[in-house]
Amino acid sequence: MKQNYIVKLINLFKAFGPKVISKDLNLSIIEGEFLAIIGRSGEGKSVLLKQMIGLITPDSGTVIVDGVDLTALKDVREHDKVFQSCGYVFQFAALLDSLTVAENVGITLFEEGKSLKEVLPLVRDKLVAVGLDPAIANRYPSELSGGMKKRVGLARTLMRSPKILIYDEPTTGLDPISVRMIHELMRTTHDANKTTTVVISHDPDVFNYADRVAMLHEGRILYIGDAKTIWQETNPYIYQFIRGLSEGPITMASEKVK
Ligand SMILES: Nc1ncnc2c1ncn2[C@@H]1O[C@H](COP(=O)(O)OP(=O)(O)O)[C@@H](O)[C@H]1O
Ligand SMILES: [Mg+2]
Repeated sequence: MKQNYIVKLINLFKAFGPKVISKDLNLSIIEGEFLAIIGRSGEGKSVLLKQMIGLITPDSGTVIVDGVDLTALKDVREHDKVFQSCGYVFQFAALLDSLTVAENVGITLFEEGKSLKEVLPLVRDKLVAVGLDPAIANRYPSELSGGMKKRVGLARTLMRSPKILIYDEPTTGLDPISVRMIHELMRTTHDANKTTTVVISHDPDVFNYADRVAMLHEGRILYIGDAKTIWQETNPYIYQFIRGLSEGPITMASEKVK
């Protein structure tokens, strides 16, 4: 069966000075899937995502997003269009403290000159979509809990109706209950908006929500497969890695050294 790929990374090579981060990196992301990317700290997972959205240009190779070859683009406006179709959820939050929730969520529409009267109903819809009471629209970020702020950050990303939602370690530092809540929110958002979701995670709970898991190792995708069967993987490296994960990221040797 022919798959419809929304992202294709083909033979990417990227080095910073003498340090090679990506080499022969190939990854095809199926439109509509929820993909989790795992790998040790410093393997280049964030660099992979940044190459995917054009924040970092590979030294060689091809990046195709939503049918557009990013590596062949000359016009910055063309690139902007692709960037708009990717919702990069920067640690979820990063809200502006001096703005209300409504102003944060609707920020791009306000920048385009739209009025509060026009924007507020859209903001309220998105707040409901991420499980918040729309009455918080008038509040300031300092009046919200950490979990609420994350939801507001996601609501802001959803305002752009992105085709691809990208999360870079969204649950780092959270307790297990909050981790589960965030994973549930990510999956609900994925299903409700029919987006493609790409998440980098250290938490094995993500396997319960993802469709596929890809593992980055030494600059390449070492493994990609069904999230449900990852626990049965016999490849020693993957086995060791996911067992390490199940004990929590703190116990991982590679994390301790940092
Ligand atoms: N802009 C940059 N300039 C130089 N080195 C970088 C840059 N971004 C990342 N690196 C290096 O690339 C390596 C991979 O980084 P990163 O993708 O952040 O790893 P992780 O898998 O933990 O997300 C690290 O050694 C990091 O120091
Ligand atoms: Mg990272």
